[in-house]
Amino acid sequence: MRTDDKVMKYIGRPRPKDMEDTLAFIEKMRKMVADNEGVTWAMTLKDDPKLMGHISFHRLIKEHDRAEVGYMMHPDFYGQGMMSEALRAVLHYGFNTMGLHSVEAIASPLNSASLKILERNGFVREAYFKENFFWEGQYLDSVVYSLLAPKK
Ligand SMILES: CC(C)(COP(=O)(O)OP(=O)(O)OC[C@H]1O[C@@H](n2cnc3c(N)ncnc32)[C@H](O)[C@@H]1OP(=O)(O)O)[C@@H](O)C(=O)NCCC(=O)NCCS
Repeated sequence: MRTDDKVMKYIGRPRPKDMEDTLAFIEKMRKMVADNEGVTWAMTLKDDPKLMGHISFHRLIKEHDRAEVGYMMHPDFYGQGMMSEALRAVLHYGFNTMGLHSVEAIASPLNSASLKILERNGFVREAYFKENFFWEGQYLDSVVYSLLAPKK
């Protein structure tokens, strides 16, 4: 996924060059869980263990019970509403098990599919940052969405 142009179109992160980079990335995700700094879930179909995508709380701000959610999926699975399903499950876990009070998501304003998923799941657009993200020689805009925990 992380070497696929379609997947990486709006992701300002370096792509793995080889298996070593890929294993280092997986190790980083494992360490994040071990250090209690975040959690990444692999997504699979119920009857097929092959990786189809991942979704994470990758930046925990513990003192504020806040986390940033991020996700990506292999294009073979686009257009079936599966990331929305995963997001709902992960939000439920974040609010009910991890005790989060709020979740944020940062996206490119051009990433229509991602913005639609966020809005459909109740996220509110709270900020638009102009040219705050430098990537491959350009300063890019970002939008910040957030969702508060349901009132008890
Ligand atoms: C973001 C992502 C998970 C969305 O997955 P998906 O399977 O396309 O999601 P959905 O099928 O639920 O589609 C979401 C909506 O966006 C729409 N959409 C998809 N691509 C679009 C595009 N290029 N322009 C406008 N709308 C688009 C879909 O039609 C759908 O709306 P609808 O249900 O009203 O028809 C997937 O595109 C992805 O992995 N992208 C690469 C990684 C990424 O950008 N992650 C997010 C970083 S913030």
